[in-house]
Amino acid sequence: MLASMERLPLVIGNWKMELSHRGQLELARSLKQVFKGFSRDIELVVCPSYPALAPVADLLKRTAFSVGAQHVHWAERGAWTGAVSLSQISPFVQWSLVGHSEQRALSRLTDEQVQVTAHLALQHGLFPVVCIGETREEYDADRTVEKVTAQMQSLLQKASRASLAKLVVAYEPIWAIGTGELPDPGDAASVMLLIRKLAAERFGNDVAERMRVIYGGSVKARNVAAYVAEPGVDGVLVGGASVHPREFLDIARLVQEAGR
Ligand code: PGA
Repeated sequence: MLASMERLPLVIGNWKMELSHRGQLELARSLKQVFKGFSRDIELVVCPSYPALAPVADLLKRTAFSVGAQHVHWAERGAWTGAVSLSQISPFVQWSLVGHSEQRALSRLTDEQVQVTAHLALQHGLFPVVCIGETREEYDADRTVEKVTAQMQSLLQKASRASLAKLVVAYEPIWAIGTGELPDPGDAASVMLLIRKLAAERFGNDVAERMRVIYGGSVKARNVAAYVAEPGVDGVLVGGASVHPREFLDIARLVQEAGR
């Protein structure tokens, strides 16, 4: 899996809106139990919903886990009822998903807004995990490369050489999210290779080698090994399976093994 020793394998759990507040605190407590003694040669991140960020971060203090937001607004402040800004989450989290397809749809995000958010997150000292990927229609029309290239080029527009070491790109074919429909691991890896190649075209190979690229979309313990076995795949973004502590542990172990 690892092409470069500098890239620590990464497993991110996106809890979406699956659990109640109490359910999220219980999940954090059981993760703490289940992952006791888990070594830190991979990075583990969980993304609860906003009201649970601070208590979950507190519960997971001094564990292998860091905490991330599922979304953050692209504006720094202003009249945006119900929205949450970077300066409101940065005291609690080290990470944020940016441009998840569910939010791209809900908030009608443009690639430019995604790019602005990612760079703002970096300025606030957070690790942005920028989600990109094609729709079912685009996939069927053989337009995956075109879509991913456009999204990456927009993201790279304002990127700096230094930012690439903190930037994570999650390739998530939208048609694979929550559907159980999976791309062929080799096909997914070749899109992920393209993502790195686009970064290399802009900044050179050495800089592009520092950027982490992970796969997301219907990742389960039973299928994760095939994805992380592919070259250049630095980990996974897990939705539905991440709210099951034992399965999340199995996934983390399989990613860890692939990194060895
Ligand atoms: P899923 O979600 O694992 O439930 O498909 C992935 C995601 O939305 O990031």
